[in-house]
Amino acid sequence: MHFPASDLNPEQTYRLMSGIIVPRPIAWISSLSPNGGVNLAPFSCYTFVSNQPPMIGVNIGRKAGERKDTGRNIMENGHFVVNIADETLLDPLHESAQEHPPEVSEAELLGLDVLPGAVIATPRLAAAPISLECRLHSVTPFGNTGAEFFVGEVVMFHIRDGLMQDGKIDTGKLRPICRIGGPNYASLGEIVTKRGIAQTAKSVMKPEAA
Ligand SMILES: Cc1cc2nc3c(=O)[nH]c(=O)nc-3n(C[C@H](O)[C@H](O)[C@H](O)COP(=O)(O)O)c2cc1C
Repeated sequence: MHFPASDLNPEQTYRLMSGIIVPRPIAWISSLSPNGGVNLAPFSCYTFVSNQPPMIGVNIGRKAGERKDTGRNIMENGHFVVNIADETLLDPLHESAQEHPPEVSEAELLGLDVLPGAVIATPRLAAAPISLECRLHSVTPFGNTGAEFFVGEVVMFHIRDGLMQDGKIDTGKLRPICRIGGPNYASLGEIVTKRGIAQTAKSVMKPEAA
């Protein structure tokens, strides 16, 4: 089957792309609403974009042309938290995608406890095995649906005791969940370990060469 991308409308493109770009990790983002409530929603168009400083990027779309609560809160406050869910948190993660008016706190609605941020004012989820406190770095619009790529600098890592060894996360212990197309998720399958391939050490660019 072959067809030009221009044949598809935004809904068709979304359906296709979200089945092609799989599996996707999920940023479960907490952000502060104007009334002080903790807004919570999952975002799977998400990746990391820099090692030093550590930065992550997430694509946040719009509803009826308006920024989603998460996007609006981040723009207003300049900070947010990416929480990582494990398999035990799949139900509340999924339910937190339900649309609510801005004043409704999904964290409260779902009975999820939060902890104060260490460096930023946005709280993190107490039940999450990993949380990344982020400061907004930049917002870049893409395409004609109003989607924006939010980049955040990670300023604080919270990692549950026992998950990290020799500076690495034990993925088998983390039991992350990922999103595939539609309301479908997957958990970690068999972990296959290959020979390590040496890579040139990552280094900081000299300003004049950057
Ligand atoms: C697993 C999952 C991943 C999602 N990923 C995204 C995403 O990457 N970008 C996006 O704009 N919406 C995504 N959504 C939809 C938002 O979570 C949904 O629009 C939510 O209501 C936004 O909440 P808010 O208005 O409180 O920010 C996803 C939904 C689910 C269930």
